[in-house]
Amino acid sequence: MGDNRADVQTIKERIDIVSVISRYLSLTKSGANYKGHCPFHKDDTPSFTVSSEKGLWHCFGCGEGGDVFAFLMKIERISFPEAAERLAAEAGVSLKRRGDGERERLRTLSAEVVAYFSENLTNAAAGKKAREYLIHRGYGEETWERFGLGYALPEWDDLKRSFSKRYGLKTLTDLGLLVKGKRGVYDRFRDRVLFPIFDLSGRPIAFGGRAFQEEPKYLNSPKTVLFDKGRHLYGLSWAREALTAKHSAILVEGYTDVLSLHLAGITHVVGSMGTALTQGQANLLSRFVSEVVIAYDRDAAGGTASLRGMRILRNSGLDVRVARLPEGDDPDSLLRRDGPERTLEILEAAVPFHLSYIESLKERYNLSTLAGKERALAEARPFYQGISSLPLKEEIVGLLAELLDLPLEGVREDLGKRQQRWRPTEEPREMEHSWGKEEVILSLLLRGEADFREVAALASPEDFSQHYRPIVEALATVNDPFNLSLLMQRLDEESARQASYLALAPVRFNDTGKALQDALIKLVKLPAIDRKLVRLREETKRCAQEGNRDRADELQRTYSALVAERTALVAQKHPRRGRDDKG
Ligand code: UTP
Ligand code: MN
Repeated sequence: MGDNRADVQTIKERIDIVSVISRYLSLTKSGANYKGHCPFHKDDTPSFTVSSEKGLWHCFGCGEGGDVFAFLMKIERISFPEAAERLAAEAGVSLKRRGDGERERLRTLSAEVVAYFSENLTNAAAGKKAREYLIHRGYGEETWERFGLGYALPEWDDLKRSFSKRYGLKTLTDLGLLVKGKRGVYDRFRDRVLFPIFDLSGRPIAFGGRAFQEEPKYLNSPKTVLFDKGRHLYGLSWAREALTAKHSAILVEGYTDVLSLHLAGITHVVGSMGTALTQGQANLLSRFVSEVVIAYDRDAAGGTASLRGMRILRNSGLDVRVARLPEGDDPDSLLRRDGPERTLEILEAAVPFHLSYIESLKERYNLSTLAGKERALAEARPFYQGISSLPLKEEIVGLLAELLDLPLEGVREDLGKRQQRWRPTEEPREMEHSWGKEEVILSLLLRGEADFREVAALASPEDFSQHYRPIVEALATVNDPFNLSLLMQRLDEESARQASYLALAPVRFNDTGKALQDALIKLVKLPAIDRKLVRLREETKRCAQEGNRDRADELQRTYSALVAERTALVAQKHPRRGRDDKG
């Protein structure tokens, strides 16, 4: 990848992350790290940790984290180029705008790939399934053309074979079209309907791919030179004019929500590509509109990720309203069932976000009981404390006092109280549930205590769960020698948060080699054996039914041997407990 990556590395080497962060909060030395009160949430215990040696920071209270650029971007609410500009000046590095040629090449490739995939969709024999699927969802050929839809064939190397001669494997991997696995590189998108993602000027830069059944339902391009999920919005180039005209944006989660609203003539709509709206996306929106109407499905709208998004939007100076979709609906399903008029009606009836939040408390707690009131208040506390506008805070106090039938003064005082343990509306602690095999492996790798090649020999990115895959894929590109700082540059906001957590969390392994082996056994070896056992059992049954005794006996012996192998593996993992095989 081109860009000014080398310059960025030089900046990081010259600038001490501790001295930059110290300008915003006071840090005290604590062991190998520095600690302080987090500037991004109301932090009573010093949960904010900085490692000078690793060049990372992480708040164990709110889950934010990353490198020095991420810190500056977040605290100053600036873009990456702006942050780079400032730190470059400080480090005495002159940023060269290199890599423009490379960018152009990637853009051309991107456009060619879009054309290639759409050809599959319209004409390939294997594309029949995709054509029928889209038509069944109400998307006809004109829609495919208008939005650049395509189809990736089921083969592992279709795109690889068609494009590698002209572009080379590296370029294809850089654009996220190929994935590096243990047996070489292969196509990322296989047997999926593709929704190209366009930049502001309408050039394709990435893809979202929908599977027909298998998981994950949607697969997105990783962060590349052209694309960063947290800094783009799906459909922005198509919505641009309408946004400027209306000063308002409808924010939806899904690709199909964007398409269906567009087709219904509602065009001031963009997709966040999942619920976790980022600061980068909020910055983008605030360039075009002054108000955002969130139209997520109900489960997502009440969720912690969505609340976090609302707070980001509010704090970026945008008015936020929330549409109340019928239970179980997203805008796409609503449109298809109730039509555009009713949908528009529901969208227009969206209420200010604090009203919608307080409304949701009524639904989630039994407010006629003492316990219900206590819980609702406790939940509202971080919500209230995350808001900076005084008039808005006062309105919330008033509404809650009324809702809970409590005196104003008491509610105001209670909401402002310091928060100790129970913080249900904070960022979900995905990363804080007790560590499993993936956290152990990734943490060892990120700390430089395990060699990626050892992991890659056994595991492919696809052996990891979807939310860690970006880290695994990025690790594959920076392992020779391992370079944490470069790795961070390749991660989007969300993955950077996970990585800073895994690298800085205060855990210690007694025996790193053993911890890695155990985790790999759990991640790869045991699941592989289990899959084989299932196949063997099925085949044995079939042979027995067909009266093929000898074959069935033979299979049974293989089965027993494999069970023994499994037991031995598990025993090796837990030498003392031996038979415990909970994977
Ligand atoms: P949903 O699961 O709500 O799907 O995800 P959807 O948009 O309604 O999709 P259809 O209608 O079933 O086809 C909402 C959005 O979250 C992101 C995608 O951007 C998706 O459009 N997502 C979802 C992923 O990135 N990965 C997933 O596995 C699921
Ligand atoms: Mn949907």
